[in-house]
Amino acid sequence: MKLWGGRFSGQTNEAANAFHSSITFDRRLYRQDITGSIAHAEMLGRQNIIPQSDADSIVTALKEILADIESGRLVIDTNSEDIHSFVETELISRIGNAGRQLHTGRSRNDQVALDMRMYVIEETDTIKSLIADVMKTLLSKAKEHTKTVMPGFTHLQKAQPITLAHHMMAYFHMFRRDYVRLCNCRDGADQMPLGSGALASTTYPIDREFVRERLGFAGITENSLDAVSDRDFCIEFVSCLSIVMTHLSRFCEELILWCSEDFGFAEMSDSYSTGSSIMPQKKNPDMAELIRGKTGRVYGSLMALLSMMKSLPLAYNKDMQEDKEAVFDAADTAKACLSVFCGMIDSVTFRRDAMRQSASGGYTNATDAADWLVKKGLPFRDAHEIVGRLVVYAIEQDKALDRLTIEEFRSISDVFDQSIYEAISVETCVNSRNIVGGPAENAVLESIQKGERFLQDENC
Ligand code: ARG
Repeated sequence: MKLWGGRFSGQTNEAANAFHSSITFDRRLYRQDITGSIAHAEMLGRQNIIPQSDADSIVTALKEILADIESGRLVIDTNSEDIHSFVETELISRIGNAGRQLHTGRSRNDQVALDMRMYVIEETDTIKSLIADVMKTLLSKAKEHTKTVMPGFTHLQKAQPITLAHHMMAYFHMFRRDYVRLCNCRDGADQMPLGSGALASTTYPIDREFVRERLGFAGITENSLDAVSDRDFCIEFVSCLSIVMTHLSRFCEELILWCSEDFGFAEMSDSYSTGSSIMPQKKNPDMAELIRGKTGRVYGSLMALLSMMKSLPLAYNKDMQEDKEAVFDAADTAKACLSVFCGMIDSVTFRRDAMRQSASGGYTNATDAADWLVKKGLPFRDAHEIVGRLVVYAIEQDKALDRLTIEEFRSISDVFDQSIYEAISVETCVNSRNIVGGPAENAVLESIQKGERFLQDENC
């Protein structure tokens, strides 16, 4: 049944009908749609806009429709135009004339805005808890590896020694920001738009506050034109997810590198690796690569949403129906990536020896040698120059700095003495950076504790 047949005498072209229908993808909003309609019907009855007995039978029938869809007894008919038409048609077929009053004081424009807000709020909660799972896994990995020295990189060149715990906590902080961003996004979506009508609200004495309360929204939208033409909450949601994907993708990229034979820092478990159909020796980090690849897909959804909205005159335009597939796909993709990532990172084996050995190469302690000279009274610029020469010499000799004899040190600068060796051991390099935000074991342990407190405070 069409909801708008009265004005028309001709039939819709078949291709046009298939083209504008959204039921194949908005069917997943059935629960939000029915829940919103129940609250609306209850309000219509209470306000005497429709007879209370009709409101009661609408509510009962809607609850039955919901249960029937959920149990599979009622199959969503893909010949309907959209989920709103389907539910209303089904209602009318079940209870007749009483059902024909449900749409009083409402438009599909405020209805779809409501459904999408409810969907985004629910998905935000689910994704927040998936992020919290990742954060917990990172904390437990960090706890295991506060003494696991590894090289830190800049430009993908070895830079200074850090620990694997410090590296894990760097990602913990990225996901912590993602979590907070999603909380803010949720607050933005938490405004109830029903009552906005098609664009100019309604003449009926509706009670928006009652509907808000029934649906558990924090507030109600304050401008009917804005409320039906606003998809900021979708854009915010998908942009939060895009940043989550950026973080996942960077971590995956590092894991892929670390699992390569040349790095040898880590090994994926068999349960998160795949093989090659031709090369028997291969063990490929496909999951990490796929997460990295799927990042582009979420960015694509964000671009689709932004471009869709950029030139729309107020208020609702059918362009906006395109919000759904972008939002759904971004949410599905991010959820799948987060849960696979969590299992994958939990089951990775880290090769402490390879990391330790790599950290000792590449002159990662050169800064510390310069800092040692500064503590002996040299200006940093001079110290930098001296250690630069020392490194050139050591490269010529094919030796690490701590393998040079004290005579060799002193041939570059007579300020050097025996205590330089202790000062440039990788353990000293890490543990003397014992300030808030630093890689020293104590600093990282404190950071881990703070992280645990954050998750506790959030009830994760
Ligand atoms: N299927 C539509 C959408 O998703 C519902 C709103 C339709 N409103 C309208 N005026 N045609 O946007």
